[in-house]
Amino acid sequence: MDKLLIQGGVSLKGEIRIAGAKNSALPILAATLLTHDTVKVCNLPHLYDITTMIELMGCLGVEPIIDEKLNVEINSSSIKHFNAPYELVKTMRASILVLGPLLSRYGQAEVALPGGCAIGSRPVNLHISALQMMGADITVENGYIKASVKGRLKGAHIFMDLVTVTGTENVMMAATLAEGQTIIENAAREPEVVDLADCLVAMGADISGQGGDTIVINGVDELHGCTYTVMPDRIETGTYLIAAAATRGHIKVKDTRPDILESVLSKLEQAGAEIKIGENWIELDMHGQRPRAVSLRTAPYPAFPTDMQAQFTALNCVAKGSGTITETVFENRFMHVHEMNRMGASIRVEGNTVIVDGVEALKGAPVMATDLRASASLIIAGLVSENETTVDRIYHIDRGYECIEEKLQHLGAKIRRIPS
Ligand code: UD1
Repeated sequence: MDKLLIQGGVSLKGEIRIAGAKNSALPILAATLLTHDTVKVCNLPHLYDITTMIELMGCLGVEPIIDEKLNVEINSSSIKHFNAPYELVKTMRASILVLGPLLSRYGQAEVALPGGCAIGSRPVNLHISALQMMGADITVENGYIKASVKGRLKGAHIFMDLVTVTGTENVMMAATLAEGQTIIENAAREPEVVDLADCLVAMGADISGQGGDTIVINGVDELHGCTYTVMPDRIETGTYLIAAAATRGHIKVKDTRPDILESVLSKLEQAGAEIKIGENWIELDMHGQRPRAVSLRTAPYPAFPTDMQAQFTALNCVAKGSGTITETVFENRFMHVHEMNRMGASIRVEGNTVIVDGVEALKGAPVMATDLRASASLIIAGLVSENETTVDRIYHIDRGYECIEEKLQHLGAKIRRIPS
């Protein structure tokens, strides 16, 4: 297994470009199953999770055509199977996103039930109950969700008990071809849900309310092809900005969207960063100063994203003062804390909150990544350490960060990949 070797102590400086959003690209790829026409998806990030979704398309009998810029053309008319196997679902939970489109377009789908993962139990009960309300017959047998419907799904009035991102996306995709109107209340408001809705509208869907907590979908008879460009990745953007703030650096990130990062930018300002924004860029300057510790609480968009709390924990480790980070979305998202304490951090966990007392610098150590965003936080911890850190199990990071060591090298970091 590859590892990352980091020699800490360098302030990040320079400019980088942000890739397309993983969490938007995955549902958009799944949405291409809703039409027999060709859909061209541009600005896909170069990530393992995208490769897994393309592999899943291959399992269904669909052969995406990929060009050298990683734009993908998908024509799902060659579909032969309706089954997402466990081998793929276990490596990427977002495989569940093919459930709604397959069921709605073909009246049948079998998707392996995703298990728990490093950050919590992560059930998909809300996806299942919403599709049942739309007339689907669903059983869970031998580890598989087996879904079918005679004729078309029927529009329904659905109240989501919890805000779920992929749950909202699955139901929204299914509802585009259902008979009648579907109303999703307590819908996820994440920008990636809006990006998917905009792509579906470009394919001929009738959707309104995306970005708010009530989404209304009027089913249509069929969808058609389109060319769609995936939005920039706000989590990748935030991760580099936090890394720059923690290392007292000065960077500019380009090809991004400041308008969807308000909660994160406001925390960076509290940490002492000077932030400048343009239409598609963000510049962060710490003027060489040590960051101040910040406190935050994760919650669904537009509040502070759970996918960015571990990175702020790394910043707090070397900040002036103490900060608390409260996680309300997932039950077990603090695995990185124990690794950071091994690097000399002073962090204690109390229930769903971590309390961090900042120290001058961390000490490099061999550490192990446990999930995608935790691995990013360990890299930031390595960047602010006095000596050498190796991060093991970095396949987690390759799932969600495009060429991370190259982008960090471009910003001056001393980081390299050691192949296994
Ligand atoms: C998505 C993102 C992930 C992000 C998360 C929260 C993708 C591919 N992944 O994950 O990066 O961290 O949103 O912003 O977009 N829940 C249930 N029952 C369900 C569904 C969810 O109890 O049927 C719970 C989950 O266990 C969790 C909470 O709801 O506690 C939110 O999860 P959800 O928004 O569904 O996360 P994902 O869509 O899997």
